[in-house]
Amino acid sequence: MKICCLGAGYVGGPTMAMIAAKCPQIEVLVVDPNAKRIAAWNSEELPVYEPGLFEVVKTARGRNLFFSTDVEAAIKAADMIFVCVGTPTKTYGVGAGQAADLKYVELTARTIARVAEGHKIIVEKSTVPVRTAHAIQTILRANSRNGQFQVLSNPEFLAEGTAIADLQSPDRILIGGEPTPEGQQAAAALVDIYANWVPRDRILTTNLWSSELSKLVANAFLAQRISSINSISALCEATGADVDEVAHAIGRDSRIGPKFLKASVGFGGSCFQKDILNLTYLCKYFNLPEVAAYWESVVRMNDWQKSRFAKYIVNQLFNTVTGKQIAVLGFAFKKDTNDTRETAAISVCRDLLEEGATVVVYDPRVPAEQIRQDVLGDKTNPNLKIVNSALAACDNTHAIAVLTEWDEFKNIDFAAALEGMHKPAFIFDGRNVLPHKKLSDLGYRVYAVGKPVPPAA
Ligand code: UDX
Ligand code: UDX
Repeated sequence: MKICCLGAGYVGGPTMAMIAAKCPQIEVLVVDPNAKRIAAWNSEELPVYEPGLFEVVKTARGRNLFFSTDVEAAIKAADMIFVCVGTPTKTYGVGAGQAADLKYVELTARTIARVAEGHKIIVEKSTVPVRTAHAIQTILRANSRNGQFQVLSNPEFLAEGTAIADLQSPDRILIGGEPTPEGQQAAAALVDIYANWVPRDRILTTNLWSSELSKLVANAFLAQRISSINSISALCEATGADVDEVAHAIGRDSRIGPKFLKASVGFGGSCFQKDILNLTYLCKYFNLPEVAAYWESVVRMNDWQKSRFAKYIVNQLFNTVTGKQIAVLGFAFKKDTNDTRETAAISVCRDLLEEGATVVVYDPRVPAEQIRQDVLGDKTNPNLKIVNSALAACDNTHAIAVLTEWDEFKNIDFAAALEGMHKPAFIFDGRNVLPHKKLSDLGYRVYAVGKPVPPAA
């Protein structure tokens, strides 16, 4: 059996590497028109940073895992075609700012229709609005001369930073197919692939629309938990309660559970905001404005949390940061990834620059050029500086803001490290990862999300 994957991004690359590693009998070809990306997948320096990924790629690359830019040849050769192209939020036209932009998905469907011959199973892995599989089906059937297609929905639930563990032992695999005999047969073929390493009782099959909708709803529920705890973090700061203690106390209720209750400077990543906006758009489209407003508030709370954090820094620094230097530790949207899409650091850095601060950023994995592009776009601003160590960022700074929970920040020996440097007086911990007590004892004023505000000096 031969499978190919269109789109060599954060989802396509790792997912296909895992399938190839677990199924040596299947030939897996990952294609992408982006030649630079493909060259990176074929090199020692993969385009996606993910712990354990390189080892998995190395097991299979050149054996039954291949990366190429020849999209058409891959489609022709494959029995099963995974669609993992991006689906960003639309920036233009109807639904701008909310609906998913399906131009890449549609383009992909048209390319498949043009070049594919014979029976093919199309697996939609990109997160899409409900009924996209239907649209793909229609495009394929209307435009293909010699192809017969079955479209499946198989959303990916991996989280970045833990992608390899998530792929290795997923909570569940979800496969949606048409209720026809051909549809069921196609779904069974995909079940068989996963069954090479995933227990069968973890592989769920549903109808197409349930599968598509479940992906949006799963992300909406996860993001909702973060907005819920972040809303409480503000109340904790105001009342002197400690958000970690509250999270721990409520998480012990087995109906609530302990995971995903970490207050933060705000959630980021390519999925949460995009998928909720997508869900909101769907609800409006189907004339359910109350449902749309309910979910939209999760994103609004997140936006508020991000801007609240920047304002908090300015307030504590005596209401002005003009001419002051602020070290930003961490830029990725979470630890163990080089991904910066929708990271809270973008808006925090922008807000601080706007207030006239000099912002010095360090992230262990995100390239300087990426940080510059994310914060400034095509503009320039000499007040944004990017350095290559945490210590360089902290040298001679007024305040330190921790925006990503990288392990290396937890272990900085601030006392020894800043010996001989002009010591910053303020630390703002947007992730609650530093040893607050120890730092206070060293004379720092430590402010953290959802923690009691230290008494005025
Ligand atoms: C994935 C999913 O596809 C998206 O729907 C989900 O919501 C988030 O995860 P991701 O892998 O993170 O996206 O995106 P990205 O890293 O941008 O990769 C997409 C790849 O598709 C890019 O390498 C791009 O070059 C490629 N692509 C895009 C194609 O191969 N063909 C196209 O027509 C457009
Ligand atoms: C998410 C989903 O978890 C995954 O199932 C889906 O396939 C894609 O979207 P991802 O965005 O990669 O994965 O990472 P996730 O671990 O969910 O974190 C998202 C954001 O929420 C990060 O910015 C993270 O820092 C933040 N977060 C997470 C919190 O602020 N608090 C928490 O308790 C958990």
